[in-house]
Parts: sequence; C-alpha cells; structure tokens
Amino acid sequence: MRFKKLILIIAVLTSAPAMIATAQTWVVPDDQKAVCAPIKFTQEMQKQGEQVYMKICQSCHGLPGKDNWMKLTPPPGDLAKDKAQLQTDGELYYRITTGKAPMPEFRNILSDDDRWNVIAFIRTFNPKYVQPDPSAKGSFSGRVVTLALQYSDPMKKVIATATEKLKDGSMSPAAGVEIILYVKRYFGNMQVGDMKTTNAKGEAAFEFPFDLPGNKDGYVDITAKVNDPKNLMKSTPASGSFAIGAPTDKPGLTETRAWWSTRDKTPIWLAITYTGSVLIIWGFIIYIIISILKIRKVAKA
Ligand code: HEC
Repeated sequence: MRFKKLILIIAVLTSAPAMIATAQTWVVPDDQKAVCAPIKFTQEMQKQGEQVYMKICQSCHGLPGKDNWMKLTPPPGDLAKDKAQLQTDGELYYRITTGKAPMPEFRNILSDDDRWNVIAFIRTFNPKYVQPDPSAKGSFSGRVVTLALQYSDPMKKVIATATEKLKDGSMSPAAGVEIILYVKRYFGNMQVGDMKTTNAKGEAAFEFPFDLPGNKDGYVDITAKVNDPKNLMKSTPASGSFAIGAPTDKPGLTETRAWWSTRDKTPIWLAITYTGSVLIIWGFIIYIIISILKIRKVAKA
C-alpha cells in the first residue's frame, strides 16, 4: 500500500513539470481552430464514434465522465470535462489528427469521417454544446488542393497535378505541394519512389517501376496523396488504374493442366510420367500390404 502511494507521489511530481511544458507546446494554429465538421452531427455518427472511442481511445482516456483515464505523463484527461469540451471542434480534430506522444497521431489510423464521428460522440457528454453551422464554412484559410493523376506515355512517367481553389473561388495550379505516390498491393498501399514537390504548373512527375506486377492486363491501381503532416491544407487525393505494370497471367488451378507453371500448360509426357509414377508407387505399397496380410494368415494357420 505504502509502495503504491510512493509511486503515485513520484508520478505526480514528475508529471507536473511535464504538464506545464506540454500545455505550452501543443498549440493549435488559429486557422485549424476555426475548422468545423463538414456536416451536422447525426445519431449515426455518434454511434459510429462511440465504437471508435471504445475500441481505440478508451484504453487511455477512460470512459467519458468517469475520470478513469490511464495515469500517463502528460495525463490524457477525461474528454467529457471542460478542458477538452471548451475547445472548438477544429481544435479537437487537430489534436486527434496530429497526436502528441504518448497519444498516437490518428491521421492514417482513422479516416476523416471516423475522426469527426468520435468528436460527435465526445460532444454528447456536453449538454451545453451547440454545433457551429457547417454551412457557414469558409473560415478555413489554408490551401484547398485537389489532385489529379495521369500517365504520360511520351515521358514514361506518372504525373500528379495539383490544383488549388483560390480565395476568389477560381482554380489555379498549386505549386510547392508535396505529393506521395502509392500503388495498391495485396498487403495495402506501397509508396512508389520518393516524395515529389509540384512545379509552377502544379505538376509532379514520378518514375514508375514498370516491372511491378499488375493484373492480367498489366493494370495497377495508383493513388496520389498530399503530404501534409501539419494538416495545414484540405486536400483531395486522386486515384486511377493504369496499364503500366507487368501483366501477371495466373490461370486458375482448375484450368486445364495449369500445374506445370503459372504460364504454360503441362507437357503431355510429364503428365503421363508423373501420373504413372504415382500409380506405380501406390500399386507397390498396396502390393506390400496385401503380401503382409497373406504372410500373417500363413503364420496363423
Ligand atoms: C496511448 C494513449 C492515448 C490514446 C490511445 C489516445 N489518447 Fe488522446 N491523449 C493522450 C494523452 C497522453 C493526451 C495528453 C497530451 C498532452 O496534453 O500533451 C491526450 C490528449 C487528447 C486530446 C486533447 C485533450 C485536451 O484536454 O486538450 C484529445 C482531444 C484526445 N486526446 C482525443 C483522443 C481520441 C479521440 C482518441 C481515440 C481516437 C485518443 N485521444 C486516443 C493519450 C491517448
């Protein structure tokens, strides 16, 4: 018991300075504070958010309103309490998106929708909360970038084009945007080459490893995403399917004589020799078993 108390005291003493230090460093940029949810929170969103919360957040933050968060440094705190509830939705969204050790960054773990859903859920513990009208947007002052993808045959490169919406509503090429290219594999997305920054025309050209296996017609699914670790932009990724991979023609196992290799049919001589050998070996085994049975019969008699 005494030992436990000692640990608690040490934990408090060590966490206090850390708390002060981190309270100063986890600053949310002003334009991010003003961000609001894309749509009005619905019961469906709250339900989805509850599932996400129970699965992922509860381990550290405890049950909302119960003050039973995990003793960490800095303390995660109860998200139903004022410290979190007095923040704007944009602030909460930014913190969930970017994380701060020991809290993980959820940018790539949770979809945008799930991050908003979890906020919708957390807000249900605040009876005073009134959601800002999502239609009254326009408060976002960062860059709003949309990507497009194409394959340039003459250049033999995959081109990602970034366009941004300017304040006056017009569209213009977005220069200086960092783009990462991914190709879909069985196990998920794999990055292709290095990150590229768009030029004055808003374009970034990527070399593509053409020996990468695609489907049977050589199609590969490619996605371009904006690299924006500080979450300063609103970006829409682009995806496309291009016939620039190596065709992989794997016949189904039930197709005629596909057991020789994935490309060719089994040669007849091999099919006969192989089947013949198997039959001979089995015949021999059965012959031995019958012989043994005969010998035992003779022995008994
Ligand atoms: C590994 C533990 C851990 C997990 C999992 C975790 N958090 Fe956190 N969270 C923390 C810690 C620790 C802090 C405090 C960080 C700080 O103040 O520097 C924090 C802070 C926050 C804050 C800011 C609170 C404030 O008062 O300013 C929000 C909002 C938040 N977390 C939401 C979430 C949500 C939503 C999830 C689930 C999707 C989640 N967290 C998952 C540990 C965690």
